[in-house]
Amino acid sequence: MTYETLLIEIDGPVAVITLNRPDALNALNDKLVTELTDALNGFEKDASIGCVVVTGAGRAFAAGADIKEMRVQSYMDAYGNDFITRNWERASTFRKPIIAAVNGFALGGGCELAMMCDFILASDAAKFGQPEINLGVMPGAGGTQRLTRFVGKSKAMEMCLTGRMMDAAEAERSGLVSRVVPAADLLNEAKAVAKKIASQSRPIAMMTKESVNAAYETMLRQGMMFERRLFHSMFATNDQKEGMNAFVDKRPPKFSNS
Ligand code: HXC
Repeated sequence: MTYETLLIEIDGPVAVITLNRPDALNALNDKLVTELTDALNGFEKDASIGCVVVTGAGRAFAAGADIKEMRVQSYMDAYGNDFITRNWERASTFRKPIIAAVNGFALGGGCELAMMCDFILASDAAKFGQPEINLGVMPGAGGTQRLTRFVGKSKAMEMCLTGRMMDAAEAERSGLVSRVVPAADLLNEAKAVAKKIASQSRPIAMMTKESVNAAYETMLRQGMMFERRLFHSMFATNDQKEGMNAFVDKRPPKFSNS
């Protein structure tokens, strides 16, 4: 498989997918999430693959949805094209074990993508956050729902309302990540864990992850639907345009509360 925005490495039963737009801190544009969906579709069918690792090239896992691509969307673009639901969430329905190896920034949609995986291994340079409020929107790919389940209401609320980032130590303390390892060891460690998982019975591993997810996902669907409707509607506000334009213009936003 060759992709424009992903690097694929196969190491025995482990597939490593590297998000590869390092100049844009691996911002998740439509091309990238479509390619990621395609790669995961292939690995789900491929009997030689027992576990997938997702990581990022350069200094980010992913710094969020691509603001430059997203900023011009209207409400009808977002709602009509089923933004996010259409091609963003494949990691959350992937039937084989999938690990996020977070090497740097995991912000906005990047943090949401990491949380869609079965668990997160973080490097000591990882930074997590849901900074969407600075852009005049809120998380739209599960951030308000999944982060709250991972770290509890108080920390999730503070992070979503202020947009502040969490470092790796805080992320481990609060249960967002399973473990923190030195940056230089992250990929090897993720591959070793993935190999261990791939050496187990494949169907038992699949059933085990289904069962853990059942404990975690019950009632998530309603929360996600609620979040998605609100997120789409934000593309009808002036503050969304101002927030995203200000980012691209490299200036502070001036919100008009409209
Ligand atoms: C598009 C992005 C980007 C993004 C970074 N870049 N994040 N482009 N979308 N989300 C680009 C920058 O414009 C810049 O390009 C290059 O990557 C390097 O970024 P810098 O800002 O110069 O780096 P630095 O000063 O180190 O700051 C790093 C950073 C900052 C703190 C991560 O880039 C940042 O705040 N990024 C935005 C994070 C964010 O708001 N994420 C949430 C997005 S909304 P140029 O061309 O100038 O060199 C979202 C909604 C999800 O994710 C809902 C589901 C879809």
